[in-house]
Amino acid sequence: MLSYTGVSSYAAQVDGVVLFIVIISGIILAGLTAFTLFCLFRYQRQKHPVAADIDGNVFLELTWTIVPTIIVMIIFYYGWQGYGFMRAVPKNAMKIDVEAKKWSWMFQYANNKKSGTLKVPVGKPVKLLLQSRDVIHSLYIPAFRIKEDVVPGRVNYLWFNAIEEGTYDLLCAEYCGDQHSVMLSKVEVMDPRDFQTWYDTPPSPEEIAGELVKTCLNCHSLDESPRIGPGFKGIFGRKSTVITAGQERTVIVDEEYLERSMLEPAADVVKGYDPVMPEQNFSEEELKALIQYMKGLK
Ligand code: CUA
Repeated sequence: MLSYTGVSSYAAQVDGVVLFIVIISGIILAGLTAFTLFCLFRYQRQKHPVAADIDGNVFLELTWTIVPTIIVMIIFYYGWQGYGFMRAVPKNAMKIDVEAKKWSWMFQYANNKKSGTLKVPVGKPVKLLLQSRDVIHSLYIPAFRIKEDVVPGRVNYLWFNAIEEGTYDLLCAEYCGDQHSVMLSKVEVMDPRDFQTWYDTPPSPEEIAGELVKTCLNCHSLDESPRIGPGFKGIFGRKSTVITAGQERTVIVDEEYLERSMLEPAADVVKGYDPVMPEQNFSEEELKALIQYMKGLK
């Protein structure tokens, strides 16, 4: 479920402009419809058999030029003001690196802590630095009224100040391939003390693996069912037929194989699957935690 209540510092502003545009559009629609109906009735052939030849009407022409111009300038003014506010990041904003890839989000904090969900303290400005590993994605948090494209080869940014604790949807809003529709995550707006505790606690290997594996599960399953990639259940020690440099061969899945499959997924592609997995830049510690985790998936 999407949450539509605005809970960021500029949600009210965005909603105000949208409401203004909707009301203006409603008034124009009602006016035009009424005028059309009036003309249909007033100037039908029985009542008005001879067409009038009109040269022009300066008053009308000025009115339909000036009034829309004023309306559009008001909309522009509010839009420009709101845009300026959205681009002006407060100096004290907490920076979080965001990595988008097919098809998951990863959030990395200043102390290198990683999370598959975006955890932020309530009432503090947060700046997200957006990078893509592959194609164009778009980070969209409907409840915060923000959306920004994540473009490979550059770092885009956005900022927000979440004003209400809670969990909100975060999604990809740019079609990025097969699993675009499951490129979902959450924003968790936390009490500042709870956030600090979470931030300061070094994660255990289980937690590291738990966070990272979330980003795998848009393409892999934890059971045996095949998806974009093979299922993980019973993967360790399994016999697997892979294509290596165009040659088919059989391997036993061991630690070395798992590590290579994460760092260079294109090296051995399991038979029957497309070579679509992006290379992962996991640290030594993360690789260890993930391999340990996979050994446990019996
Ligand atoms: Cu990423 Cu759509």
